[in-house]
Amino acid sequence: MSEIHTGARYVEALSALPSDRLARSAFQDLVLRIARPGAALFDFGAGPGIDARFYAGFGFRVGAYDVDPGMCDFFSVHCGALIQAGQIELHTGTYPDFLASEAPAGATRADLVTSNFAPLNLIEDLRSLFLKFHALTAPDGKVLASVLSPYFLGDLRYRWWWSNCRQLWRKGHFAVPGAHGPIVRRRLADFAAQSAPYFALKRVFPGLPSIRERDAHGIDMSRRGSRAWLRLMNCRFMFLLFEKLRLEPPANETVHRLLIEKEHQHGHDPGNDERENDA
Ligand SMILES: C[S@@+](CC[C@H](N)C(=O)[O-])C[C@H]1O[C@@H](n2cnc3c(N)ncnc32)[C@H](O)[C@@H]1O
Repeated sequence: MSEIHTGARYVEALSALPSDRLARSAFQDLVLRIARPGAALFDFGAGPGIDARFYAGFGFRVGAYDVDPGMCDFFSVHCGALIQAGQIELHTGTYPDFLASEAPAGATRADLVTSNFAPLNLIEDLRSLFLKFHALTAPDGKVLASVLSPYFLGDLRYRWWWSNCRQLWRKGHFAVPGAHGPIVRRRLADFAAQSAPYFALKRVFPGLPSIRERDAHGIDMSRRGSRAWLRLMNCRFMFLLFEKLRLEPPANETVHRLLIEKEHQHGHDPGNDERENDA
């Protein structure tokens, strides 16, 4: 990340807009509703540690990872006392190293992986990341991610949306250049396809504080024809809740990693096996 969007400058920018503050508090509230007291959380793309410190304040044990050294430097100071107390553990290093790292035997597995403010939109190969989440989590683990909604009406004023909407419909995703690499917007069906066979997309929540009762419970993605996207047009973010699946043989995560690498070498197009459950 560039100087301007990392560490203290990032915190300043992200705290300035009321809409961002509302989106953060909606996500944090949802985490508090989903995670049982004392649970182990893992914050992926943790940035400066705003959420990690918030979760630790509620008694959760928190693991965290961010690829950006500037963010990690800020995190280490912002959460310094909690890191020293052993309640927060920050992982640093390159993304390939993060994906390849093996948890030591007996290491705590996360009950819930969190990822707020769209780190997943910065990942092109999501399937490898969901494999990693599978390895990081306890048997009934979950992933809660705040991602950019490709259905957000506010984006229809931009030319990039119109020049990519056909691809969104046909392939399930499109990427636009961002300051730090491509920003990939995905349909719900594409997220569901990319998380398989490691996780299943179970519920989707509009990324704002819920005023209506039905928004608080989210949209059940196992119902066919839920037309979830219609309820996701008024907010920039959508919150996705995935539940861990038991791996069928070959059940070994190392074998899966090798399969993914092979898939990449042969240029598999993940759009081909996308499930059509969001339209
Ligand atoms: C918009 S910030 C969100 C930060 C934090 N989750 C929050 O709520 O403020 C996106 C974060 O994703 C991180 N990121 C981008 N690519 C990443 C990757 N491959 N692995 C881990 N983190 C990544 C960035 O460094 C940045 O801190």
